[in-house]
Amino acid sequence: MPKTIGILTAGGDCPGLNAVIRAVGKTLAASSHRLLGFKDGFDGIAFDRTMPLGENDFSGLLTLGGTILHTSRNKPHKMPVGKEILDMTNAIVDNYHKHQLSCLICIGGGGTHKNALRLKNQGLNIVTLPKTIDNDLSGTDITVGFHTAVDTVTRAIDNLHSTASSHKRIMLVEIMGHRTGWLALAGGIAGGGDVILIPEIPYKPEMVAETIKHRSRSGKLFSIVPIAEGVYPLDAQIAFANATARKAAANNKQKKEAAKQELMQLHEKYTHKTVELARQLEQITGLETRVTILGHLQRGGTPTPYDRLLATRLGTACVDCILQEQFGVMIAVRGEKLMPVPLDEIAGKLKSVPINHDWISCARKTGITFGD
Ligand code: F6P
Repeated sequence: MPKTIGILTAGGDCPGLNAVIRAVGKTLAASSHRLLGFKDGFDGIAFDRTMPLGENDFSGLLTLGGTILHTSRNKPHKMPVGKEILDMTNAIVDNYHKHQLSCLICIGGGGTHKNALRLKNQGLNIVTLPKTIDNDLSGTDITVGFHTAVDTVTRAIDNLHSTASSHKRIMLVEIMGHRTGWLALAGGIAGGGDVILIPEIPYKPEMVAETIKHRSRSGKLFSIVPIAEGVYPLDAQIAFANATARKAAANNKQKKEAAKQELMQLHEKYTHKTVELARQLEQITGLETRVTILGHLQRGGTPTPYDRLLATRLGTACVDCILQEQFGVMIAVRGEKLMPVPLDEIAGKLKSVPINHDWISCARKTGITFGD
């Protein structure tokens, strides 16, 4: 009996998403099963916004960035409907059965996996695929999109070397990664950064300046400082930790809302933290300093061959899993292999950079410092 499989992309987009959709669709078509796309993340299955995907719909997708299904960060149980926020879980379950889905594939990062687990616990057959440029998903060595973002960051830092050298400047490059340093670390090493700042390693501006002054004394009159967007000065880290603790301890809606407001104000207050660090470094070292924030450039572009291969492997492995009726799992990358991992084990868990990670030790051996 031909099966109908649902698929959606949720959370931040990244290069490689369309390559995954293509791999799933072509594999299903080869065994006469149907692929039904749901648009705009979980909104699509909540509000029944479908996009049937037939075998003629996949040409050109391997190299196309972004997602043809579009995406959103909305959560099934907290879905904006007009001016209200509604729990659309039941609507999702109804639409899942209305379309007689055998399984719903959710392609996403941390938030998506928490939402996918909730739907699995509602009795839906769910298989997820790991994607995010942050590579911060627990349970998998790597995520679709990370490799391409590292390539983008590396090329950006390459471009900064010539202007930093010409002007004998310190160049701070703010790199995405949400609350982890994977992207800044990988792109910083590959791009030849001199001091790499990541959330996992607390830094002191004076220590950053020390490396820069040491470089100056040995005739290297410019420095490149890749800094992850999740890096904050110590006072901010303490304030965030206190506000986060208050939010976790809040025993009523009012206290929870107050703590959320406090966190938003802190984010607002420290929005320009990288510019502030640049000013401090300029003051300490006497060198001109400039800031480049790479922003959403890191989410764009055509996927690298590595990500196209990874996307194709994950898409086909996902279909194998579905046809073997193995549900409630994420297809994870473990070394050279792909394997299904129970959603219960990984959903909601952040994968930070271990401070003894090989990338950190190899960076230090080449003279890169981390502000510590
Ligand atoms: O999760 C991917 C990511 O690019 C993070 O690195 C970044 O902090 C966030 O998304 C930006 O979110 P948005 O695209 O919603 O502004």
